[in-house]
Amino acid sequence: MTRIRVGLVGASGWMGRTHALLLAAQHVVFGPEPSVSLEMVADATPELAADAARACGVARSTGDWRELVASPDVDVVDVVTPNHLHHTIALAAIAAGKHVYCEKPLAMNSRQSFAMAQAAGRRGVVTLVGYNYPVNPIHRVAREIIAAGDIGEVVNVRFSKNVDYMSDPQAPFVWRHDRSIAGSGTLGDTVSHLLSMLQYLIGDVAEVMGHVRIVHGERPLVPGAAIGRQAGPATALRKVETDDEVLVLLKLAGGATGTMDASRVATGRRMEFAYVVTGTRGSLAWSIDRLNTLEFYSAADRPGRQGFRRIEAAPEHAGYGAFYPVANIGMGYNDQKMIEIRTLIEAVAAGRTDAWPNFADAHRIQCTLDAIAASSLERRWVRVSEIAERCETTSSPVGTEGSAS
Ligand SMILES: NC(=O)c1ccc[n+]([C@@H]2O[C@H](COP(=O)([O-])OP(=O)(O)OC[C@H]3O[C@@H](n4cnc5c(N)ncnc54)[C@H](O)[C@@H]3O)[C@@H](O)[C@H]2O)c1
Repeated sequence: MTRIRVGLVGASGWMGRTHALLLAAQHVVFGPEPSVSLEMVADATPELAADAARACGVARSTGDWRELVASPDVDVVDVVTPNHLHHTIALAAIAAGKHVYCEKPLAMNSRQSFAMAQAAGRRGVVTLVGYNYPVNPIHRVAREIIAAGDIGEVVNVRFSKNVDYMSDPQAPFVWRHDRSIAGSGTLGDTVSHLLSMLQYLIGDVAEVMGHVRIVHGERPLVPGAAIGRQAGPATALRKVETDDEVLVLLKLAGGATGTMDASRVATGRRMEFAYVVTGTRGSLAWSIDRLNTLEFYSAADRPGRQGFRRIEAAPEHAGYGAFYPVANIGMGYNDQKMIEIRTLIEAVAAGRTDAWPNFADAHRIQCTLDAIAASSLERRWVRVSEIAERCETTSSPVGTEGSAS
């Protein structure tokens, strides 16, 4: 039996708990082979790590991620820390010959993601990045429809993700507002998800015109605050350094145009996430409000009977049947993360380094994020290839530093 042992860095956070939960549930959904175990956890302090280990039923914990990376009992290093640590931990893990599973955004900027993708390629380790939304089986149906030409040639795309969890100007300052920890705000946190969906469905962006801005310039500093947790009274005000809102015009490699809009301060939009892909002979539309439903319009339908039809996720769609034996029962966020982890585990078991989205795929997303940031700063269209080429030729950071205006 193939046995894959995972070490989780950042175990007590939001994503840390999610990864731990879903690693533990892999066998229940997908069966015993390959065998997966959470072997060890690391966190910022020995106490946090020990608490997380107790909660997860894991024997070994450490307050120093380097100990986890060096452990011979760890095959895969799972990085779920804030963004500024992804690069350092992943490079150390790759140098130790470990496979790496890393949360998104892959890095602080494309210079870092370039180094990570290069190092993984040289060492031949498996990498996977936590772009979980596209792995919902309904998006595979959308991708197949597009690839088969059933909507004709894609002429336009519209992608939106707007949320309100920071719309209250009094919501406390957290690490996502600190540029030295987060790299960027809505850009890396949210637009990266939209770009992953676009990459999965159609492909990469060629050129962008972006507008990136901070809406609420200061926030109360509350020691110990996290998203959704106001730990106590504010002690001061702190300057917000990362973007709240991003607007993008896009040109795709194939000639299609499009838009993206994203915000974390969209009052009343609890979680809006949607796309529309328009082709010469049809159209697709999806929204997180109907997570398991794809809307498909075909101009080939006979006149008078044309209109959007609903395709609901069902066991005949790859990836769905492992969860439910009947259609449209409502897959959710954790189910998607389960599929993502399954992709990782199967890739590690098979030694396949090309499972989507690996570090190279995520680097192209990071280049697009940096192109949007550069476009906003320089007020011009920026080609993504310009950023990618700079990664290969310069040693200065190419990136989202300075992205917010
Ligand atoms: N894929 C998604 O949908 C999704 C959703 C949320 C977050 N994320 C990503 O997951 C990552 C973590 O986000 P989060 O919301 O879970 O953050 P969080 O603040 O809830 O958790 C971060 C964890 O990292 C730990 N940590 C901090 N410094 C550390 C260090 N030096 N060594 C070890 N551990 C350390 C913290 O103690 C905490 O346990 C981010 O990169 C974020 O962008 C992805």
